[in-house]
Amino acid sequence: MAAVTSEPPNPAPSNPALELLLNRRSCHRLTAPGPSDEELALILRAARRVPDFGHLQPYRFLAARGDGLDRLGQAMHRAAEAAGKPAEIIERTPRMPHRAPLVIVVAASPRPHQTIPVFDQQLCAASTVLTMQLAARALGYGGVWRSGWLMYDPGFHRELGLAEQEQIVGFLYLGTPARPEEPAPEPVDPLAPLCWL
Ligand SMILES: Cc1cc2nc3c(=O)[nH]c(=O)nc-3n(C[C@H](O)[C@H](O)[C@H](O)COP(=O)(O)O)c2cc1C
Repeated sequence: MAAVTSEPPNPAPSNPALELLLNRRSCHRLTAPGPSDEELALILRAARRVPDFGHLQPYRFLAARGDGLDRLGQAMHRAAEAAGKPAEIIERTPRMPHRAPLVIVVAASPRPHQTIPVFDQQLCAASTVLTMQLAARALGYGGVWRSGWLMYDPGFHRELGLAEQEQIVGFLYLGTPARPEEPAPEPVDPLAPLCWL
């Protein structure tokens, strides 16, 4: 018979970096304030530490806050009209960026390279989204990584002035959580995705 112990099965790690990784949650309800300029600079510094084959920095961050959220919403609205989206989608696009005080559109911006594939560079850019979400959480902010049809819409790409080879890999919404963060679910079997070869 197993010894009875008062220890929980998965004790909370005392290591703050592991705590951040094990307990990360997305936060869909965000409010002001968003990160300050100094905090945003830290978040971007963290983003620029993602693994980056060849140190090509194959990403661009298009950020919106304040009036910029209106401009982003208008760009989404024009793209929705141009794409012939249903009326209810067209109607809600101007408000979409206002779900957070800071929205960062992350675009993969692959550099021409003889040996480093475009996909590697897109993965690098995508890594910045999670890294920024984590850095923001470490600073006390919530965030959510969103996608959706606009990510792939050529008209919206034109609205943002993206080049042909650039691809949006995420919309990162950041702000102050409007309600307490849900606890991260305990994995039933943390080793389940693992397969030894
Ligand atoms: C590439 C990518 C795109 C996503 N797009 C959306 C989205 O458009 N809308 C959404 O609600 N969640 C989206 N998610 C999922 C959320 O970011 C989040 O992971 C999910 O709500 C689960 O919450 P959790 O991160 O707390 O487990 C996306 C995640 C990834 C990786």
